[in-house]
Amino acid sequence: MSWIEDKATVELTRIREAKDAGVYPFFRPFESGGLRTTVGGHAIVNYSSNDYMGLTNHPDVIAAAHKALDTFACGLSSSRVQATTTMHVELEERLAKYFGFEASLITTTGYQAMVGTIAALADKDTTLVLDNLSHACILDGTFLAGGTPSRAAEIRFFNHNSARSLRRVLESRERKNALVLAEGIYSLDGDLGTLPELAQVCNELGAVFCVDDAHGSGTHGVHGRGALEHFGIEGQVPLVVSTFSKVFGGIGGIILGSQNVIDLIKHTARSFVFSATLPAPIVAAAATILTMLEKDGPALVEELHAKASYMRKKLIERGFDLGLSNTHIMPVMIRDETKCLLMHHMLYERGIHMVPITYPGVKKGEERLRLNVTRGHTYEELDHAVEVLTELATLGGILGQGTETQPASE
Ligand SMILES: Cc1ncc(COP(=O)(O)O)c(C=O)c1O
Repeated sequence: MSWIEDKATVELTRIREAKDAGVYPFFRPFESGGLRTTVGGHAIVNYSSNDYMGLTNHPDVIAAAHKALDTFACGLSSSRVQATTTMHVELEERLAKYFGFEASLITTTGYQAMVGTIAALADKDTTLVLDNLSHACILDGTFLAGGTPSRAAEIRFFNHNSARSLRRVLESRERKNALVLAEGIYSLDGDLGTLPELAQVCNELGAVFCVDDAHGSGTHGVHGRGALEHFGIEGQVPLVVSTFSKVFGGIGGIILGSQNVIDLIKHTARSFVFSATLPAPIVAAAATILTMLEKDGPALVEELHAKASYMRKKLIERGFDLGLSNTHIMPVMIRDETKCLLMHHMLYERGIHMVPITYPGVKKGEERLRLNVTRGHTYEELDHAVEVLTELATLGGILGQGTETQPASE
């Protein structure tokens, strides 16, 4: 056997054991799109979806994608440098206007948007400063920038959401330029970033602040413009990266900034320049959802938050621990790997899909079920999920004191 076969055999031990025990919970093949689907004929309601506004399967979104398919097919056979369409350009202009920035750039995934942005901007004169719970795309972009010969940026971390820790790190940085990276909403814990405080420190200490608002865009702020709108700090953060893979119904990255900086990223971000164009049907889907947000943003956001607030109240009343959550993302903290996997399976058998998040996705002792409340869930579904969760959690001895986290977003 070659060393790669040996490596795979050794490193997949845990996964093999889970499969053998019949408790492997990942990569379940859905037989249709949407929050309600089947797996091998078994009906489930998906509570781990990021389709927060429930618009991904809207008939108008599907129709728009069909139309673009007829004009542009599925692929454009090259990168944006030589395969840009009028649809891409129009949507970039509309996104910039909607989010209140001078310019925007659409990339093929949000992951690529962040990796490309960091690697394009950071060099040997830069200190990259990251929240220590940063998403993989921020970490990977940073490690790429830190490890690129002749550009190697300095890498530093600050304590999650702590402006005081950020200040200490910025004051002791070794390079003259600093790029600080944080998130609008942290997807595993469902807590809002402390953006006003972090922005203030960046401002005082001459650092550029970049916010990844993948989970806030479309879900937060009265109009759905995201965490910056929610906190009333639009115009105070020069760079935002987001995605089409949650509210915007497909896949794709969004970078928002000044014309000058967007032009620099557009010409130098290798993950953008050397990877194929986002397909036009997906651009059409995102453009259609943008129109819905422009037209009905406040009502859509209100409905999501009303459902989130309803669910939070019920779960807390029943004694569930929602960790740090203060948004529609409400991890059900189980804090034990075996119980977490078991809960997942028993819920799944009852038609409720909540993906377990275990080590190394989170620290040992922080195992949880991924529960995202979306606008697409009905109140009856939410009630049913609470009833079944309560029944199973009681059996498993999981219920305790409901956490008292303030629902900042609802
Ligand atoms: C915080 C955050 N940033 C970026 C991404 C990447 O987005 P995409 O799915 O478009 O690659 C995600 C998606 O999981 C995310 O949660």
